[in-house]
Amino acid sequence: MICDQYIIIRNAVNYIALVGNKALADLDEKAGYYGEKIVLEAQMLGLNTCWVAGTYGKGKCKAEKSASEKIVCVIAIGYGENEGSNHKSKSLEKLCALKKDDMPTWFRNGMLAATLAPTALNQQKFVIDIDGQDAVISAGKGPMTKIDLGIVRYNFEAASGHTCRKI
Ligand SMILES: Cc1cc2nc3c(=O)[nH]c(=O)nc-3n(C[C@H](O)[C@H](O)[C@H](O)COP(=O)(O)O)c2cc1C
Repeated sequence: MICDQYIIIRNAVNYIALVGNKALADLDEKAGYYGEKIVLEAQMLGLNTCWVAGTYGKGKCKAEKSASEKIVCVIAIGYGENEGSNHKSKSLEKLCALKKDDMPTWFRNGMLAATLAPTALNQQKFVIDIDGQDAVISAGKGPMTKIDLGIVRYNFEAASGHTCRKI
């Protein structure tokens, strides 16, 4: 363990590289959203995964890409030595403008999944609010917060069945 936010990944021979067109303004967010979709599917199949954006040999990544594309990050995938442990989470009040008692069930389900979403350095720099039948999410500033935004949006939508729009 390097620090409590970084996990040492050993013997990770398989990984998924998230690659996309550099010109897309929301490439990082898209990588987070669709990457999390793959992650949840893999976890449901009994596999283990870990998002890695920083601590890997970027030059060694074998993903094919054209000159107009970039590797956003990778996801290590395989059978883990264990299932990992729950990360510490900010309180609901810090991640949401709504009080718990004022949340409809779908929103509360979405919020729970959002707090469980992995974020880089476990930073959880997002705030979610309700807007009619939708949720709206805003991200704080900092490295990898746009990838995190996509991941959290996917988790919220998968658990709540309602759209989570970016503002
Ligand atoms: C976008 C993103 C990038 C990450 N990059 C790294 C990384 O470079 N190295 C690492 O050890 N962990 C990395 N992680 C893993 C996080 O540190 C970990 O997901 C977070 O601490 C929450 O823990 P959990 O995944 O157990 O919920 C990354 C996670 C995300 C979402």
